[in-house]
Amino acid sequence: MKQFSLKDIDALEKLYRINLINSCSGFKSANLIGSISKKGEENVAVFSSVTHIGSHPPLLGFFCRPTTVTRHTYENIKKTGVFTLNHIHTSIIEAAHHTSAKYDREISEFDMTSLTSEYKENCIAPFVKDCPVQIEMEFKEEYPIKANDTILVIAEIKQLYINEALLEEDGFINLSKGNVVAINGLDAYNTTVLKQRLEYQRPKK
Ligand SMILES: Cc1cc2nc3c(=O)[nH]c(=O)nc-3n(C[C@H](O)[C@H](O)[C@H](O)COP(=O)(O)O)c2cc1C
Repeated sequence: MKQFSLKDIDALEKLYRINLINSCSGFKSANLIGSISKKGEENVAVFSSVTHIGSHPPLLGFFCRPTTVTRHTYENIKKTGVFTLNHIHTSIIEAAHHTSAKYDREISEFDMTSLTSEYKENCIAPFVKDCPVQIEMEFKEEYPIKANDTILVIAEIKQLYINEALLEEDGFINLSKGNVVAINGLDAYNTTVLKQRLEYQRPKK
């Protein structure tokens, strides 16, 4: 097997290191975060660090890169307390990926891509239309990560919208059925196939 020590990793060419370390944690979730400024400027951006924090209360989190440059998603969330999560599916991969481009605050990624914003009930932040899973989130807490100046943002699920075809009897969301993709590294979008579900495990007697 090819081996990399921390010393080797430190000495790698930058792009190679970024690709290598972004891939080594495994497949990641693929979400578009929709947010809005106080002035009403829409924003949508791709995030691969959205993760489960706990079920009761229903909490999800994501990591925001260092705020050394302006991070519109983070700023909007801090000012409005609300954002949406929208699962990326095979039909919108290229548009979703393009939302990582650094546009000025007043330019909406919805206008620069084929993505369409959608508003539901009282949520002021935009959802991404036609995503099979759409979630309204309310900001709860943030934790600065001293090791690399990132920020862990923790938020609570306020409304969960799921395409009914994906929702199974026991509450399981079959993401593969909705063609939801998984991210490998920084730029590789993968389709998934559900192989098997297994029962809750107890110690062997
Ligand atoms: C596949 C992919 C995954 C990304 N995941 C994250 C992430 O988890 N956290 C983050 O801060 N930025 C992430 N980014 C970068 C943001 O998409 C990018 O900085 C974007 O411009 C943020 O937009 P904003 O300034 O409007 O918030 C990712 C980019 C790509 C292409």
